[in-house]
Amino acid sequence: MSRIFSGVQPTGNLHLGNYLGAIRNFVGLQDNYECIYCAVNMHAITVWQDPEDLRNNTREVAAAYLAAGVDPKRSIIFAQSSVSAHAELAWIFNCVARLGWLNRMTQFKEKAGKNRENASVGLYAYPNLMAADILAYKATHVPVGEDQKQHLELTRDIAQKFNKDYGTETFPLVEPLIFGEATRVMSLRDGSKKMSKSDPSDYSRITFTDDRDSIAMKLRKARTDPDPLPAKLEELDNRPEAANLVGIYAALADMTRQQVLDEFSGAAFSTFKPALTDLAVEKFGPIGEEMKRLRADPGHVDSVLKDGAERASALAAPVLAEVKDIVGFLLAR
Ligand code: TYM
Repeated sequence: MSRIFSGVQPTGNLHLGNYLGAIRNFVGLQDNYECIYCAVNMHAITVWQDPEDLRNNTREVAAAYLAAGVDPKRSIIFAQSSVSAHAELAWIFNCVARLGWLNRMTQFKEKAGKNRENASVGLYAYPNLMAADILAYKATHVPVGEDQKQHLELTRDIAQKFNKDYGTETFPLVEPLIFGEATRVMSLRDGSKKMSKSDPSDYSRITFTDDRDSIAMKLRKARTDPDPLPAKLEELDNRPEAANLVGIYAALADMTRQQVLDEFSGAAFSTFKPALTDLAVEKFGPIGEEMKRLRADPGHVDSVLKDGAERASALAAPVLAEVKDIVGFLLAR
């Protein structure tokens, strides 16, 4: 059976990249798969989080799923820390994954920066917990943005090594689902950096809760180049900022990037940016409104998370029991 698992870190500033690269895709997949969507609060604390902010941001991720169109009856929405199988399986995977594998992870290098000695052990072991998230449900498909590809390759390596070491077929080899016209949305201030929750500049990203004025202002200030939009895709190759805005437009409008160029070739950014603003407000605005409504009703979000945690626990428990038995842990009866 095919099962989807994906997660978003509750670290605040949910943005257009999270939406176009991941959350929007979560919605459509519900028609064909059993879907499990998680607010990965244990991943979040690999770097410092204020506890009150973490609580609020966990609800915010759940609210974003709901507002985008994830149906909590068909799909499971829950917080990672409520299902202890994630932590337990992650420990076993800490003993399967090799140091050499983790040393190659580019996200750790980026996040730890120069001061690597001072990074938390959790930040280093982060991909093992991610493998545990997915494999605790024997999920087969994982919708993510492009930046998570390397972590999913590691998940496959862990599954493969576990199966080989113990002579089993316990874990599936997960398939990344990276699709759409905006799998890597770039910063509005610098086309060489990806749009990120932790960028110090608020102008680098459009967030779920930005209103029309802020979206318009951020796009007005978005970095571009002096040339009009070209007719052919190849002509965007050395124009990262232009390519980014065209990709965002295409994704929001459900068009290909070539179709966007067919419509706007020859147009200056003074024409294209207002069109993109209208589109972003039209598509993104209602989600922000719904999130505001949900924020005012934390009881509802909490009840969705509680119900999701119970259903997720019930799915993960037999997998964890199977794994413990395979590893040779005595099962308490
Ligand atoms: P996170 O919280 O950084 O991002 C959530 C999702 O958004 C995607 N994304 C982007 N897509 C396009 N353009 C961007 N600029 C952009 N920035 C972020 C991410 O690829 C991701 O799909 N490690 C994961 C969370 C995680 C997870 C998992 C995901 C934990 N366990 C298990 C899948 C399965 C992360 O930090 O995502």
